[in-house]
Amino acid sequence: QTYNHPLRPQFHFTPETHWLNDPNGMVYFDGEYHLFYQHHPESTVWGPMHWGHAISRDLVRWEHQPIALYPDHNGFIFSGSAVVDWQDTSGFFDGGAGLVAIYTQTEMIEGTDESKQRQSIAYSRDNGRTWTPYAGNPVLTDESYPDFRDPKVFWHEASKHWVMVLAAGDRLFLYTSADLLDWTFASEFGAAEGSHDGVWECPDLFALPVDGRKGSEKWVMIVSIGDNEQLPEGSRTQYFIGEFDGKTFVNDNAPDTILWMDHGRDNYAGVTWSDAPGNGEDRLLIGWMNNWKYANLIPTGEWRGAMTLPRKLSLEHRAGGIRLIQHTPDALNELRLGGTEWSDLTVQPGDNLPLVEQGELLELAVEFELGAASEFGFKLKSGMHNDEEYETIVGYDASAGELFIDRSRAGESAFHPQFACKHGAPLGASNGRIKLRMWVDRSSLELFADDGALVMTDQLFPHAGNDRIELYAVGGSVRVVSLQLNPLQSVYA
Ligand code: FRU
Repeated sequence: QTYNHPLRPQFHFTPETHWLNDPNGMVYFDGEYHLFYQHHPESTVWGPMHWGHAISRDLVRWEHQPIALYPDHNGFIFSGSAVVDWQDTSGFFDGGAGLVAIYTQTEMIEGTDESKQRQSIAYSRDNGRTWTPYAGNPVLTDESYPDFRDPKVFWHEASKHWVMVLAAGDRLFLYTSADLLDWTFASEFGAAEGSHDGVWECPDLFALPVDGRKGSEKWVMIVSIGDNEQLPEGSRTQYFIGEFDGKTFVNDNAPDTILWMDHGRDNYAGVTWSDAPGNGEDRLLIGWMNNWKYANLIPTGEWRGAMTLPRKLSLEHRAGGIRLIQHTPDALNELRLGGTEWSDLTVQPGDNLPLVEQGELLELAVEFELGAASEFGFKLKSGMHNDEEYETIVGYDASAGELFIDRSRAGESAFHPQFACKHGAPLGASNGRIKLRMWVDRSSLELFADDGALVMTDQLFPHAGNDRIELYAVGGSVRVVSLQLNPLQSVYA
């Protein structure tokens, strides 16, 4: 019954009840994907943070676990990571392997709004079921930085040490360690690079081969940037491509180059799984499908906050340089119920060609051939509510060469003045064609274009029963070369 709410995601991770923000501590161990998350177990707004926990064997179905980390005398439990300590460098595991979590603890300074942020660790000897904070916490302190958080740790095989990337306001600090307990400052990155529209948070650093060629690795640095009240975009995530020698990251691009991981409004604080089976060939990421601009206000039920779908990351040469490519992992395809295919369909202006009346949960893949239409695409989640029409538009503006989502009439939006909006990103048509793939849940839309190089993730809060999906064209016709529509199964079915 808790999962029946008309806006409750049916194939995205949500907490059973109460507040969720960043994904934390993602690690794969012994056949299990662990997902921890920023959690307030007593409220549907942000507050004293804990680490919630869930486990999946397939990245599709998640089993809720007891809370992994509780606030203690060192403070609340903010974001961080987890690793498998294969060689027992920490000494917590009697020579075997076990899990170590590395996270920020935030202690409020009495009588002020200020806090101290320090890094702590905890270990688990029972496959993540229970956690013991290290008696010597915190393991890393530097009180000259009020923002000093979100440690992401990985083992750097070439230099045989652990590396930590940490956000410190407008830059990242990198540290190294032999044992996860003692950390030495190595370098900093970013004060004059990329976007500084907001405070830097939740970094990640990992290597991926370029175009799948072994020996062609580049390093990807992911950095989330916090909300800026002056800008409509709110919190979002950028990435850098470069080189890393075990201590220092060097950006390949000009300092003012900005690469966005997602052009939608609702993908934040995403980081990748440590020790996942495919790591090195690709990399699995999950993000928080929300935006600090209105995260505390979204009109959900007894839960508030969801994760994006997991994303498989790779690097490819594209026009403009090397780009981060995102696809959904194949595991999700098992959610497909028998689909329908269309080919060679012409959409005339004014057609509003209905594809399905009840497209609540679906995956859709389409290829359009541009014609005379100045604009075309889909209207989804469309229907009536209190005598008014609602719809979300996924459209292509052919004259501007821009793919856009228009959620200004998507449904409920009164909770924040900037939620109702239309936003887009440049997308060129190759050979006069564009290909889109999208995943639609009860209250979200993930749109993949340009073979995974352009992604837009948006929340939608449609009124109950508004589930029609139709094709439209403006100013001329457009040809649908092919279209596959798969209704999806709920993971709670
Ligand atoms: C990012 C963030 C992190 C912090 C956490 C607190 O969304 O602000 O920087 O650790 O959320 O919940």
